[in-house]
Amino acid sequence: MWLTSSSVGRKFIMALTGAFLVLFLTFHCLMNAVAIVWPTAYNSICEFLGANWYALLGTVVIAVFAVIHIFYAVWLTLQNRKARGNERYAIAKRPKAVEWSSQNMLVLGIVVLAFLVVHFIQFWAKMQMAEIAGTVEALPPAAGTLFLQEAFGQPWTLVVYAVGFVALWFHLTHGFWSMFQSVGWDNKVWMNRLKCIGNWWVSIVVALFLAEAIVFTVRAHEKFYLTDEALREQYKDMIVPMLEEDFGPDADQLGAQIEMSPYGQVSMGLRQMHSQMANQLEQVNTPEGKEMVKGNPEMASQIEELQKRTDALENVVKLFDYLESADNKPENLMPASAGNQPY
Ligand code: HEM
Repeated sequence: MWLTSSSVGRKFIMALTGAFLVLFLTFHCLMNAVAIVWPTAYNSICEFLGANWYALLGTVVIAVFAVIHIFYAVWLTLQNRKARGNERYAIAKRPKAVEWSSQNMLVLGIVVLAFLVVHFIQFWAKMQMAEIAGTVEALPPAAGTLFLQEAFGQPWTLVVYAVGFVALWFHLTHGFWSMFQSVGWDNKVWMNRLKCIGNWWVSIVVALFLAEAIVFTVRAHEKFYLTDEALREQYKDMIVPMLEEDFGPDADQLGAQIEMSPYGQVSMGLRQMHSQMANQLEQVNTPEGKEMVKGNPEMASQIEELQKRTDALENVVKLFDYLESADNKPENLMPASAGNQPY
């Protein structure tokens, strides 16, 4: 088959998959920009792109294109090296600007891949994958801004991302150049125009990524994503699905109360509920308590239910602790007194 048997065919596949990945990156940097201008809308997009069939399908398509692109890149590079040593292009004269990157496409690709590994550990593994695998802990997968906080709160993240972006810029600008070369485009005027458009496109996308990473770093250091009131209201509503499974028939009523009440009240109420439940469990776990439960299957199942709910609330309390750690108010980290019960 021409696409796989001829060198031009293989380069055509590289160009096609590369073009798709550039489109994905364009969408991605625009989506990130929403986190700057409207952080709560960004979280709604993250929720929309969670563990549902259309988002999963999108992820699979991106992964397939990326794998084909990488596979063909390695194949073509090895083949060209074998055929012509380091002289990999049929055309001997290359513009000076593309000289360096053209010789280092594979290395640049590897740097981009290394960046992607860090990136996936920081975001995808804790968001979409955690939702699919059911390993969600305190941070709700839809809270994209909290993962920005986690990632860009680390000073090294900006450095790693900046290195990744520089490699990406060289990789993509050269990718554009060689894409038109590969498909045998011979209209000089249009080739130059397209290369110019390609360079501008890639430069804008990469510059936008870099600007975003800088803004996220500044905001994470200001703890904006933990303290912003509108975001806190939104995180509070994300708790509801975290409790749905374990609170069974009581989930609806509790969920409605959480959604109706302001953040501060919910934080206090759920902390109290958690500490009361934990106290009850402690009493049951004494020798006398265990004696009482023995031979009483109904009580045993109630305790099992209580344990499940307490565990679910434990993650919620951890989320509140995390958010309120930015308030410098130690009393927020203590369980509230048992007297005042909003729920
Ligand atoms: C400021 C820079 C960036 C930020 C803040 C960022 C943030 C994110 C976030 C929040 C996700 C969603 C994870 C999920 O929902 O599971 C994601 C996914 C992803 N990112 Fe980035 N990203 C950045 C740059 C990049 C760059 C430069 C690349 C590629 C070179 C990239 C490639 C991807 C890929 C392939 C995915 C997975 C998409 C999917 O699951 O459909 N990202 N990123």
